[in-house]
Amino acid sequence: MDPQTLSGRCVALAVTGSIAAYKAVEVARLCVKAGATVVPLMTASAQRFVGAVTLAGITGQPVITDMWDAAFPGEAHVAIAERADILVLVPATADVLSRLAQGRADDLITAAVLCARGPVLAVPAMHPRMWQHPATQRNVEELLRQGRVTLVGPVDGQVASGESGLGRMEAPSEIVRAIERALESSVRDLCGRHVVVTAGPTHEPIDPVRYLGNRSSGRMGFAIAARAAARGANVTLVAGPVALPTPAGVTRVNVETARQMQRAVAEAMGDDLGKADALVMAAAVADFCVAAPSASKLKKGSGLPTLTLAANPDILAEIGRKRVASLASTPVLVGFALETGDDAAVLRQAIGKLDTKHVDLVVANAAHESLGHATNRVSLVSREGVGPFTRGTKENVADWILAEVSKRLRG
Ligand code: C5P
Repeated sequence: MDPQTLSGRCVALAVTGSIAAYKAVEVARLCVKAGATVVPLMTASAQRFVGAVTLAGITGQPVITDMWDAAFPGEAHVAIAERADILVLVPATADVLSRLAQGRADDLITAAVLCARGPVLAVPAMHPRMWQHPATQRNVEELLRQGRVTLVGPVDGQVASGESGLGRMEAPSEIVRAIERALESSVRDLCGRHVVVTAGPTHEPIDPVRYLGNRSSGRMGFAIAARAAARGANVTLVAGPVALPTPAGVTRVNVETARQMQRAVAEAMGDDLGKADALVMAAAVADFCVAAPSASKLKKGSGLPTLTLAANPDILAEIGRKRVASLASTPVLVGFALETGDDAAVLRQAIGKLDTKHVDLVVANAAHESLGHATNRVSLVSREGVGPFTRGTKENVADWILAEVSKRLRG
């Protein structure tokens, strides 16, 4: 993490009413210490838990508590949204998550969230039963689906009542790290770059109606394409058969089989790979295809068919070999290692792929935590080292990967 990330940035810190509100003071202090201007916002119930005077004292800024604050000549929520590089809700109650999921704008904080220019983080804190309630979980799912609010935590641990469970607010130092991460990824650091991303499964025909496939949803690759475009890149997304919408600003090429994917990637990157600055192979490419697919539907009546398989090309490894031969350091090559087994086994496989595929970065993840989920838990493995396993939405993971790509492109 760049220690300068918070320096000179404006953090709008919105405090809502939970006992964890006292920890918002520490978040404010750490942000100020790191050089940020912190604009504190409080709901009426937040002020029952922690004094506005405390937050004002720590931040050196007046605390804004309602939409009709006379200090603003115009609309307070618009002025705050204009000024803030990031808006962080610490803590975020079940009530505010519900109102955010509905898109309400009935107080200063929810209106500022709707108007925000930059990233919005919400840091939930509540009793574990409130967190697990289907209504709260539905609101969380909806917020993740909308993709405009990133949740930080909650974590497992003791809550105010003395009980334990998932609902405790993330630690202030971790919240500040999440703020830094979000600020780093809101930069347009891929402007002028061409990033090729593959996503989804491939389908290998058995006959005109059947295929060999896998459980990849395509969500990870689509998130990478969306985030790369948001960071300013020209993005070509080579998508296997999935029904996901094309992210804004992304050029999509639909394919079915591994060979079609290979051709589409070659077309996007050029023969000498010179048309691309980076390739992120998030697709779950089938390793095998049926050697001789039947031209007509295989019939039950004609006995059990025997399928003879043939090897598919390893798209990434072939491109990796080509780049080694060219002695160039670009395009930056990123592969995935989706494995079964414990963390150590997943990492062993990932480290091995750095050399077998000749890539710069391998995203290690366990199949049961990735396939079909909105979140993922990954470790980024490169020749410089092995990162810790960290959980995030697929958009968060996309940003972590793209930050590494961007760093490598900057040399
Ligand atoms: O060899 P394995 O399938 O474990 O490697 C996974 C990585 O290699 C992924 O990035 C995947 O997109 C890529 N791959 C490929 N061509 C294949 C199989 C995997 O490019 N035939």
